[in-house]
Amino acid sequence: MEKKEIVLSGIRATGNLHLGNYFGALRNFVKMQNDYDCRFFIADLHALTTNPDPADLHVNVKNIVTEYLAAGIDPEKATIFVQSDVPEISELYLLLNMHVGIGELMRTASFKDKARKALGIKTDSSTPTSPEDDNIEKEIIGSDSNKRVNAGLLTYPTLMAVDILIQKANKVPVGKDQEQHLELTRRFARRFNSFYKTDLFPEPENYTFGAAAVKVPGLDGSGKMGKSEGNCIYLIDEDKVLRKKVMRAMTDEGPKEPNSPVSLPVQNLFSLMELTSAPEVVEQFKNAYADCSIRYGDLKKQLAEDILAITRPIREHIIELRNNDEYIGRVLRQGAERARYYAAETLREAREVMGIRKFY
Ligand code: ADP
Ligand code: TRP
Repeated sequence: MEKKEIVLSGIRATGNLHLGNYFGALRNFVKMQNDYDCRFFIADLHALTTNPDPADLHVNVKNIVTEYLAAGIDPEKATIFVQSDVPEISELYLLLNMHVGIGELMRTASFKDKARKALGIKTDSSTPTSPEDDNIEKEIIGSDSNKRVNAGLLTYPTLMAVDILIQKANKVPVGKDQEQHLELTRRFARRFNSFYKTDLFPEPENYTFGAAAVKVPGLDGSGKMGKSEGNCIYLIDEDKVLRKKVMRAMTDEGPKEPNSPVSLPVQNLFSLMELTSAPEVVEQFKNAYADCSIRYGDLKKQLAEDILAITRPIREHIIELRNNDEYIGRVLRQGAERARYYAAETLREAREVMGIRKFY
């Protein structure tokens, strides 16, 4: 039988899944499971980097598995597992860190963002900072032990690289915000392979079915829909809640002249519409914008219904599944066993090439 390419991706256990997760990741997970050897996991160790309440962590893990299943990931086709069920990941993380530079980690955009948050430094999320224009390194080194940037945040990309490399994944379906992490993963793989003169780790690529990587905007006029931005439409949102969120979306005063430029909040609505509505519908509202006949209320009503057409069946399925602990447990135990099988083999090979050998 032909060997299928390996796909790996994960989502942090930090809350319920939202439209950003769905269009950036989950939708592609479901599409890929028929053609690839897919392994999808719940990143509970990554969630620890932002110090969640211990009472919440396993609840979040359970929610995400349930949402994976409800969205259509089939455990007969894909391996579904929890990151912390594969202790080999933690060991390889230690080993790979020996080849990762503190400087390159500190320059990572997601690290700078999270470091600023941890230190309580305000940022303007609409203007991404460039590597040169801030002094975050100084702030980190000078910070006291109460307001600290934990080392887990710094080494977050190492752990993500290990998730991918330990499964020898070729394809990693993720949203646009994760592309820098993937670039680092490739760099770490190349460095390790060349240092030890091995071809142990393949270099993975983002996989988006030939389309550009997706960035789902927020409805508050901000750049990105995200849990920490507090602007999410969740898959689990009830019809009423979802409609309300969409109807409250930020807009502007409307076009005054034909073919006016589109403001960011309105562009965000169009972007969401492009992901959820039929092309003719998008076209119709764009034309209405161009000739100034658009009514944002109508656009929002249409958008809410088109989003609901996607999320409602998933929500209904979540509700059906979420009390079935026996089934969810079975899926995760079976998934952990499979994921560990591959991880243990890669770890064994990595230890071997690094010289960790038994001579006694
Ligand atoms: P969050 O950013 O809400 O904390 P995660 O970081 O766990 O969620 O993201 C998990 C997956 O969802 C990743 O593949 C990420 O790229 C994708 N994702 C999250 N938010 C968005 C978004 N707004 N647009 C596109 N993809 C997104
Ligand atoms: N860093 C990813 C995120 O925040 C989650 C993640 C962790 C991941 N390990 C991964 C994604 C491995 C893909 C592959 O969204």
